[in-house]
Amino acid sequence: MSHTKTIGVLTSGGDCAGLNAVIRAVVTRAEVGYGWRVLGLRQGTQGLLKRPVDAMALDLSSATASMLRMAGTILGTTNHGDPFAYPMPDGTLKDRSEEVIEGIRLLGLDALIGIGGDGSFAILRRLAQQGGIPFVGIPKTIDNDVGATESSVGYHTAVMVATEAIDRLQPTAASHDRIMILEVMGRDNGQIAMASGIAGGADVILVPEIPYTIDAIAAHIAKLRQRGRNFAIVVVAESVRDITGERVRQQQALGRTTYGGIGHMLGDALAKATSAETRVTVLGHVQRGGQPTHDDRLFASAFGVHAVDLIARGQFDRLVVWQNRRVLDVPLTFAFQQAQLAADDTLVKTARGLGICLGDK
Ligand code: F6P
Repeated sequence: MSHTKTIGVLTSGGDCAGLNAVIRAVVTRAEVGYGWRVLGLRQGTQGLLKRPVDAMALDLSSATASMLRMAGTILGTTNHGDPFAYPMPDGTLKDRSEEVIEGIRLLGLDALIGIGGDGSFAILRRLAQQGGIPFVGIPKTIDNDVGATESSVGYHTAVMVATEAIDRLQPTAASHDRIMILEVMGRDNGQIAMASGIAGGADVILVPEIPYTIDAIAAHIAKLRQRGRNFAIVVVAESVRDITGERVRQQQALGRTTYGGIGHMLGDALAKATSAETRVTVLGHVQRGGQPTHDDRLFASAFGVHAVDLIARGQFDRLVVWQNRRVLDVPLTFAFQQAQLAADDTLVKTARGLGICLGDK
């Protein structure tokens, strides 16, 4: 039997559904399987900058099955505040990485599990290398862009939410003879748009990986009309470029910029090109909440168990992944090979096979 260890777990980057299910699996496997203690670190690396360090003990009494059902993260998270370039109140950037590493030492952690996306892993891996911290990564992101894994925790729930939105838009589109545009998230890739568009029966799906023209979309909608259709559903990923080739961003009040706005630009262009009444729905952060789907709960559970088993085997700097119906692990650097839709991707071929317009012809 292995000696008692204390392991840390943190969530980092944008939240999504299924994070609490991962935490629950980590705690359960560590305690039941190995008799280890688990500390939850709050707000990603932010809690490690505080003194005393902001951490909470997690055990079987808190990590119950109800965590399978809860979106968000009980630990909190952040998608800014890189400790290597930490924004200080006077506007300067400071390297605070040694403070984070000291925080981990103060907690006496034998190993750390980070639940994050590619951006978080870049930071956490650098910290782990600098501080000699045994580290294992678990992929989560609604965008599903972490390399080497077919699924990241949170993606399936986001697709389910977007699909349900299409289901709700279709009857109102048909009742009013309208083009309905649904703008979905996904950062720089179009997987949420493509998967939900197929599942929801969209007529047009626009993704950043495939250039489009308004003429091609208008021609497709004209064909639908000739066949007697009185409405059209268009799904557009948030990072699709506008007609001048620019990505559309929004300036947030506190200075950060996020994607958003392509749906409305497209709505104007399509209304002019087709003379159809057009309405736009921007789905936004509802894609990150709600009850996790069964797939996300299963990936979360399998990933959490596997990550703890890796620590037990002394295998670090690894990324837990899902490939070919199995949970596996690969070098953490694989996370940085961004997963994007390729021309021969099954989703792309399926959409084309169903006669869905992808904007390019
Ligand atoms: O990466 C997840 C994600 O939801 C993206 O799809 C989206 O572009 C971004 O985060 C939104 O970030 P924020 O929560 O900072 O608005």
